[in-house]
Amino acid sequence: MLKLRRIKELTDLVFVRSEELLAGMCLARDIHFYDPSSQSAMVLKTGQKLTDMQVTQLCSAKLDGAYVDTVRSEVRVVSSINQQIRREAISNIHSLADNFIDSSKGVQKGDVEAIGNTTQELIDSLSSHKDILINIADIKMYDDYTYHHSLSVAIMAIAIGIELGLDNERLNELGLAGLLHDIGKVAIPIEIITKPDRLTREEFDIIKMHPVHAAAHLHERNLVNENIFRGIVGHHEKLDGSGYPNHLKGDEIHPYARILAVADVYDALTSNRPYRIPNPPNEAIEMVMGSMGTHFDERVVRAFLRKVAPFPTGSRVKLSNGETAYVMKNYPDQPLRPLVAVIGADKVYDLSLDQSCLNIVIVELIEDKKINRTLINM
Ligand SMILES: [Fe+2]
Repeated sequence: MLKLRRIKELTDLVFVRSEELLAGMCLARDIHFYDPSSQSAMVLKTGQKLTDMQVTQLCSAKLDGAYVDTVRSEVRVVSSINQQIRREAISNIHSLADNFIDSSKGVQKGDVEAIGNTTQELIDSLSSHKDILINIADIKMYDDYTYHHSLSVAIMAIAIGIELGLDNERLNELGLAGLLHDIGKVAIPIEIITKPDRLTREEFDIIKMHPVHAAAHLHERNLVNENIFRGIVGHHEKLDGSGYPNHLKGDEIHPYARILAVADVYDALTSNRPYRIPNPPNEAIEMVMGSMGTHFDERVVRAFLRKVAPFPTGSRVKLSNGETAYVMKNYPDQPLRPLVAVIGADKVYDLSLDQSCLNIVIVELIEDKKINRTLINM
């Protein structure tokens, strides 16, 4: 029962942008912000229903938005990627995976069509909120790894694709490749996938075959086209040829594979895995940027940086000067330098625009238990 209740708690929470907040919406997380009209720090508590005046205050405080409880709200709540689509996506990937490991059956045309429909819904959601940054915490609410990882990668890949100007047909192919890229892992013994210790060479060789298993199975049955096939099979290739399975270099790697590679590595670095704790988002971003040009396509990384919010609005962060602050607003292009309100002091730091803040950096994201990634333990 505990598990069910906690999942319900999570699925009731969505992020709503400031301009879409309405009186009657119920807060799912505390909001700390600096109100310029009263020149003071304000706190709105979880469970509180917003009034018109508070909505105005939140908008004038330049807050990106707030986490809202969809069930307790008195008005209908919309989100960039709603829970219904998420649930549908996960359930469709599950069904496809079940058929993938059932050798008497194999993946069916209907399985791929169902995932294709989900992909279009993700594209529609993300395209209708083109200017919104992808809130990483918002899409990482679970850690039942492979399936949720696939959804996170697809969402990030589509967002990158939109930023790169891909048309709807290409976004569909890319999203489908994202949802299916790791499906080959379900055929690998679970003891290897979840092994907490270092993998032996033989075990790693088995893991390295997962892009081939998935792509070959789908391609042989004529369920995916050449582009999707090359996206899936190449998602672990690196520009300098040090990737796998085919050690492709530069332009030999399909553009979809180059996009999936960035989304895949970022999501893996920031997720809870049996063999290591997650990297903080800022470190993961720095690692991705550090591999730009050697492992990752520079254009793809730059598009990715414009679409992610590693320190989502409302999250609590530790600053290099020892202060703790709440994130109020994110800027595209400056994912590591948002606008923050210092807790316990009536001041805000604009880490991107204020010259006097140049020496201050965010050193830690203080995770909120409600949306952290430790649900694997429940
Ligand atoms: Fe993979």
